[in-house]
Amino acid sequence: MPDAILSITGLSKTYAKGFRALNNINLEIQRGEIFALLGPNGAGKTTLISIICGIVNASVGKVSVDGHDNVANYRAARSLIGLVPQELTTDAFETVWNTVSFSRGLFGKPANPAHIEKVLKDLSLWDKKDNMIRTLSGGMKRRMMIAKALSHEPRVLFLDEPTAGVDVELRRSMWGLVRTLRETGVTVILTTHYIDEAEEMADRIGVISKGEIILVEGKVELMRKLGRKQLTMQLLHPLQALPPALSAYALELSGGGNALTYTYDAQQEQTGIAALLDDLDRAGVHFKDLQTSQSSLEDIFVSLVKDKAA
Ligand SMILES: Nc1ncnc2c1ncn2[C@@H]1O[C@H](COP(=O)(O)OP(=O)(O)O)[C@@H](O)[C@H]1O
Ligand SMILES: [Mg+2]
Repeated sequence: MPDAILSITGLSKTYAKGFRALNNINLEIQRGEIFALLGPNGAGKTTLISIICGIVNASVGKVSVDGHDNVANYRAARSLIGLVPQELTTDAFETVWNTVSFSRGLFGKPANPAHIEKVLKDLSLWDKKDNMIRTLSGGMKRRMMIAKALSHEPRVLFLDEPTAGVDVELRRSMWGLVRTLRETGVTVILTTHYIDEAEEMADRIGVISKGEIILVEGKVELMRKLGRKQLTMQLLHPLQALPPALSAYALELSGGGNALTYTYDAQQEQTGIAALLDDLDRAGVHFKDLQTSQSSLEDIFVSLVKDKAA
């Protein structure tokens, strides 16, 4: 049974100068999932997260965090949320321990050194607890931001572009970290403009473009769709129409009848190509050349965004 921890209904945002950054967002996030909000720069990802976290006001619409309205019941809603913002914002001259402990206090939670210790250990920061933040490496600073966001034991963690501008190694370790977090029962929502990151990390992917969510789908289903391959044959003699004997195949004629394209599921054991080639031969359709191509998440993304722009 679906069990939503976050519900967003009819959410729109128009900024002061009349720019509409979000348009009628409806989205439910399930407890315990890793959800990737994937979209190009300027799509509205940070705006959406900022509204959920109560940093920016919505123009219309509602957000509910585990049943708590994020306006009417702001404190309860906010205490369930941890936010790792896109920009690192910390006091360089404070220690790791103090920063993370202080952050917990901001949520009105009683001190809990054992929890802070666990978080710092989980994030491999325990031996840095007395170091000043300015002495940390970039990767450590990012982990410190996560520790800070986890200090008050939130149930939902937002990571806004967690790996923008970081090196490959750090990216990999961030991905591993997010998986570990999920094992502790935390729901993770991350934004990214990297397709491979969404593909690597997410259980479900929502594609956002120009302030609208244009697709929400399970990663596996999405990848299956994307796993479609095409076999294109350059025909020896152009065809006016498909021979009826081939009507059972997903075939398409193009290029003035000079090219025949067969679309198939690359994930399937039986692609149907062997049978198709036999049947083509039997129908007297011959080709002089053939090639295959595969759609990628990139292709789908680009075509979705293009449709929207049209
Ligand atoms: N405070 C603001 N005032 C006006 N426009 C804004 C403001 N913040 C963001 N925007 C605009 O809203 C759009 C979405 O921005 P943002 O949510 O930051 O996108 P993303 O995080 O997907 O890159 C952009 O066009 C951005 O310029
Ligand atoms: Mg952003």
